[in-house]
Amino acid sequence: MAASLQNQGNRPPGTHQDLTDPKTWILRLERPERIPGLRIDDVVAGLELKSGDVVADIGSGVGAFAIPFAKAVAPSGKVLAVDIWPVLLDYVDEKAKLENVTNLQTVLVAPGDPQLPKNCLDVAFFHNVFHNMNDRQAYLEALVSSVKPGGRVAIVEQEFDDPIAKQWDLPEDRITKDQVKTWMANVGFHLVGDFDIFQGENNPKGAGMPERWFKVYSRIPASRLCVIH
Ligand SMILES: C[S@@+](CC[C@H](N)C(=O)[O-])C[C@H]1O[C@@H](n2cnc3c(N)ncnc32)[C@H](O)[C@@H]1O
Repeated sequence: MAASLQNQGNRPPGTHQDLTDPKTWILRLERPERIPGLRIDDVVAGLELKSGDVVADIGSGVGAFAIPFAKAVAPSGKVLAVDIWPVLLDYVDEKAKLENVTNLQTVLVAPGDPQLPKNCLDVAFFHNVFHNMNDRQAYLEALVSSVKPGGRVAIVEQEFDDPIAKQWDLPEDRITKDQVKTWMANVGFHLVGDFDIFQGENNPKGAGMPERWFKVYSRIPASRLCVIH
């Protein structure tokens, strides 16, 4: 295998789904130098999470975001840590227990289906996982029925041509902001937040993380839609 492909996971042919096994994910995601690269406090602040919010961290991995999110929305809010691997979800449950976090629920899903209750989410959050959905448009169509009317979908994704992103993912598996903008518009969501905390000088050096864009989308209010009878 060429050196540039060595991190590119385990993708069944014809899919974008990375089926890297969960033990490998734990090692990758728990690298201590990775944590500054996640800018967790800034993500919590940017999303303006507050007590009572219900947040889904989709592709929650080892819970790097899910656990701080749960603390931010406590005591009355809740976090759904969503993943496709039971081993990772058990790991998150264990971490939550050690940190006395009681408002986090782990949710095991099939890769193509968010399987979340209808109309329950204030925020659906993805960090470096949305590109792994096989049919991104169909995934959003299924997801948005779980987002409350004023709720948001927040996506952090690697810049398409970032050198680290190129090492991790093949071109056909990476996505651009313009693609996401179109998929979002097709489900009636528009841009309401745009953060540069993972860009240029703001992207912590030494974390080994690609530059990423961080955008937040919400439904276009019905009053702004032009309906001609
Ligand atoms: C690159 S890791 C990111 C983990 C976490 N978001 C973070 O940044 O620390 C991708 C995670 O998404 C999960 N995942 C991959 N495909 C998924 C899917 N279709 N639905 C839900 N989770 C998925 C993987 O098992 C893995 O835990």
